[in-house]
Amino acid sequence: MATSALGYIVVSSTDLAQWRHFAVSTLGLMEAPAGADGSLRLRIDERPFRIVIQPGAADRFLAAGWEFRDEAALEACCAGLRAAGVAVVDADASDAALRAARLLRRCTDPDGNPLELYVGRSLDYAPFASPHGLSGFVTGDLGMGHVVLPAPQLERTRAFYQQHLGFGDSDQMWLQMSPNPTDPKLGIYFMHAANPRHHSLALMGAPVPSGCVHIMLEAKSLDDVGYALDRCLADNVTISSTLGRHSNDGMVSFYARTPGGFDLEFGCYGLQPDWSTWVPTTSLIPDLWGHRWTPPA
Ligand SMILES: [Fe+2]
Repeated sequence: MATSALGYIVVSSTDLAQWRHFAVSTLGLMEAPAGADGSLRLRIDERPFRIVIQPGAADRFLAAGWEFRDEAALEACCAGLRAAGVAVVDADASDAALRAARLLRRCTDPDGNPLELYVGRSLDYAPFASPHGLSGFVTGDLGMGHVVLPAPQLERTRAFYQQHLGFGDSDQMWLQMSPNPTDPKLGIYFMHAANPRHHSLALMGAPVPSGCVHIMLEAKSLDDVGYALDRCLADNVTISSTLGRHSNDGMVSFYARTPGGFDLEFGCYGLQPDWSTWVPTTSLIPDLWGHRWTPPA
């Protein structure tokens, strides 16, 4: 049974104030009431949170939360995982409540990326209100955005998401990262869940110490993206990539370095293909224009 959407992400932080400054004061996300575990919870829509920052010993990405339409879909997925020998842990009610979910299961993919699988997430009926007046984010059935995860075992991990979570191929890229054309190319698979977003998940065939390449939030307007970029520049946030437009999903975006050590892509205009007629593509270039990357420090 197919995963419906990316529901939320979980991050570990040694300094919640740093995250609050970045996400709320600079980007303009909405701070929700803290979790019972002291976590910082960030809203971008009617959900109680889409990003949860847990106090921890390290600054890193912890997990992606994948939403299922109903209990039957979740249990069918978990049964398939267990039949394939994947350890699936049933979270107890208090643990699920921390995610505002009714049922919560946990496992890892072949590359060790943690997944949280859930149904029955509650809503927050207070309207989304950005401290910077953002008009809002493209979410709803499309989920919170997308996440790009490290997958050194690229083919095996791609097969895991296809076979057990029902992801479909959207696009793939093979990038020559070194000057030597005979060196192996870096592969990236872009995959869609059961919603129109071009990709809810991408897998990059290399290890990443922070546990995540980037997450993406899709604003409703180009002006929201431009104003957010200006605020990042004014606050001396590291801009990992300048404004640009991706070749595959058409996203116009920039990338900012989060306190979690991974990037946040802030964009708009993402493609929403009709999967009944879509033929998966292979992109020969990552961008139509822009997206000049800052070398790692
Ligand atoms: Fe992205």
